Amino acid sequence: MGSAFSQPSPQGQPPKQEVTWHPLDLEEHPIDAAPRIKVIVVGAGIAGINAAILLPVKVPGIDLVIYERESDIGGVWHQCTYPGVRCDVPSHVYQSTFSPSRDWSEHYAAGAEIKSYWHQVATKYDAWKYMRCNHEVQSSEWNEEKAKWLVTVRHGTTTTVDEADCVIMATGIFSHPALPKYPGMEDYEGHLCHSSRWDSGFDPARKNIAVIGNGSSGLQLLPQLQKVAARIDHYARSPTWVGGSFGPKVNANENAVLEDLRSTFDDAETYLSYRKGLESPSFSGFGAITKGGAKSKENRDRFHEDMKARLGGSTDLLKAIEPDFSPSCRRLTPGPGYLEALTQPNVEYITTSIERFTRTGARTIDGKERDVDAIICCTGSEKSFTPPFPVIRRGLGLSSAWKPGGSIGFPNTYMGVAAPGFPNLFFVNGPTAAAATGTLPFATENQITLIARIVRKIQSQGIRTIAPTLQATEDFRAYCEAYFPTTVMSENCSSWFNGGVKGGRVIASWPGSGLHANVVRREPRWEDWEYTYRSSSGNRFAYFGNGWTQNDVEINREEGQRDEEKPPVDLTPYLQLDSVTGQVDLKGYHETWYNV
Ligand SMILES: Cc1cc2nc3c(=O)[nH]c(=O)nc-3n(C[C@H](O)[C@H](O)[C@H](O)COP(=O)(O)OP(=O)(O)OC[C@H]3O[C@@H](n4cnc5c(N)ncnc54)[C@H](O)[C@@H]3O)c2cc1C
Ligand SMILES: NC(=O)c1ccc[n+]([C@@H]2O[C@H](COP(=O)([O-])OP(=O)(O)OC[C@H]3O[C@@H](n4cnc5c(N)ncnc54)[C@H](OP(=O)(O)O)[C@@H]3O)[C@@H](O)[C@H]2O)c1
Repeated sequence: MGSAFSQPSPQGQPPKQEVTWHPLDLEEHPIDAAPRIKVIVVGAGIAGINAAILLPVKVPGIDLVIYERESDIGGVWHQCTYPGVRCDVPSHVYQSTFSPSRDWSEHYAAGAEIKSYWHQVATKYDAWKYMRCNHEVQSSEWNEEKAKWLVTVRHGTTTTVDEADCVIMATGIFSHPALPKYPGMEDYEGHLCHSSRWDSGFDPARKNIAVIGNGSSGLQLLPQLQKVAARIDHYARSPTWVGGSFGPKVNANENAVLEDLRSTFDDAETYLSYRKGLESPSFSGFGAITKGGAKSKENRDRFHEDMKARLGGSTDLLKAIEPDFSPSCRRLTPGPGYLEALTQPNVEYITTSIERFTRTGARTIDGKERDVDAIICCTGSEKSFTPPFPVIRRGLGLSSAWKPGGSIGFPNTYMGVAAPGFPNLFFVNGPTAAAATGTLPFATENQITLIARIVRKIQSQGIRTIAPTLQATEDFRAYCEAYFPTTVMSENCSSWFNGGVKGGRVIASWPGSGLHANVVRREPRWEDWEYTYRSSSGNRFAYFGNGWTQNDVEINREEGQRDEEKPPVDLTPYLQLDSVTGQVDLKGYHETWYNV
């Protein structure tokens, strides 16, 4: 324990500072022989799979476990199997930056192929050994004395408590389907399901089907059902922009990647240039986010013309579907085939709100009843962006505190990556993570890399706890509050960006472009975090150990004590061939953590 005293302040110097003297007994270990660190990741979607690949490489002392409640990894690509499910970003873009497939069978791949791709990536990087499928995390509570998260996990009928120094939430924002809450739902006797819990035993052929919701899921599913169903009642309570493809537009019969093109990818440089050509545009549309901007108006005019053409001149439909808010207030959806399907005689587009379900169908508030064999709810996911299970410290639960009406009322994170007062807890693809431009895989890799740097710091620098300061969190929030009103996302639409509240606080998006998020995530701002230390002395330098490094120990071993199997120690890793030829790229020189 230390003693507090004041340093003298000579005249003209800054005021005296309270400091504490932390005497310590030297720890008898080299600086780089730190204890291992246990990390639990919750969720094995794209985020969890990337965590399983990147964390062990970037944090050499890690003991990693990834709990996944489903029977398989892949996240939404495992869970969502409805007809027509596929990416709306080109497959060659919607994939890992470091392990691309050049073999996509379609320009916009179906869900099953995307899932299979991530399986292959997990296999290539030996990530399966960290995966625990059929393990649902039920709660996570911080234990002050141990400085560990106690994570309760259900596996079949068994419930266990696992302990970890750090928890990473990779639970996804679309993995908790939200069914609507209409009176009479329990009385409905037909087939009822959520689009992301599709029942493969259900045959839509010749059935009368209600499709509720016109988000991306509804837009993808409806054209598939329309082709085979007898009748579709499409309940769409809000208008939406349909257009703005995230890549080259292709018709259904042009979606296959032809062998002529695919064979050119055998040449790595050709493939790289193809991918760059597809991926760059995903970063370039940021101008359209500015409220009242010329690009936004340009998009509005273009989408208007495009929708009009696709609706085949049906002005009634166009009037019902076209929003008064700007494109990109809600996430855009290209919806190939959707508008065309709406013009077919077996589809009724219904904007009147549903009042209740009946035994045989649904009744709208104008008293009209429509009987159907099935009701498919494309009603999206839980939109509060709160952890899907209690995450508790000192009696405060993040899930309830962040919910609308809770003590905080919204997910008040530090840059989407952590929460003040909740040490050693991190989020990937959670609140505030999704930038308006860029790609999900690249953003995911960057977030995990940032978290890896924080976890490495905890492990290698004797840190017991790290949490963002409240002040840094509030400053980030103030930035968000100043930024979002300048964007179309703050207009009067309901979307998952704003928790489904028209014109509400934007809680999902990064306050800036994808490139902007990349700049911020590249360098951790250590001054925004508060720390406690593992040493009982409280001295931040206790981890310096006894002044030795492992290489010092190794090289000073007596003859005969060395492990001859081990490669010789390189005490000068900074001397590389390019340091002899004078070709060193000095920008990153002497900055890497792994060759010191
Ligand atoms: C149908 C659909 C299509 C999409 N298409 C695109 C697209 O084309 N382009 C694009 O950029 N984005 C798309 N998205 C968004 C998509 O969510 C992200 O691109 C990405 O897949 C998210 O990955 P993730 O790992 O963050 O989350 P998820 O894939 O949601 O994975 C989260 C995982 O956490 C698990 N989990 C949750 N709670 C627990 C718990 N308590 N215990 C254990 N495990 C738990 C879940 O089971 C799930 O496996 C789409 C989403 C959907 C639903
Ligand atoms: N690759 C793809 O094409 C694809 C496919 C699916 C999903 N995704 C991703 O997943 C995100 C979510 O898409 P999603 O379609 O699943 O969800 P979503 O965008 O949240 O859309 C949900 C839809 O259901 C409606 N709705 C919700 N509750 C309702 C209720 N009680 N009664 C009537 N209607 C109700 C909503 O209407 P309001 O707008 O009026 O609330 C909205 O139209 C997308 O934005 C996208 O990022 C991508």
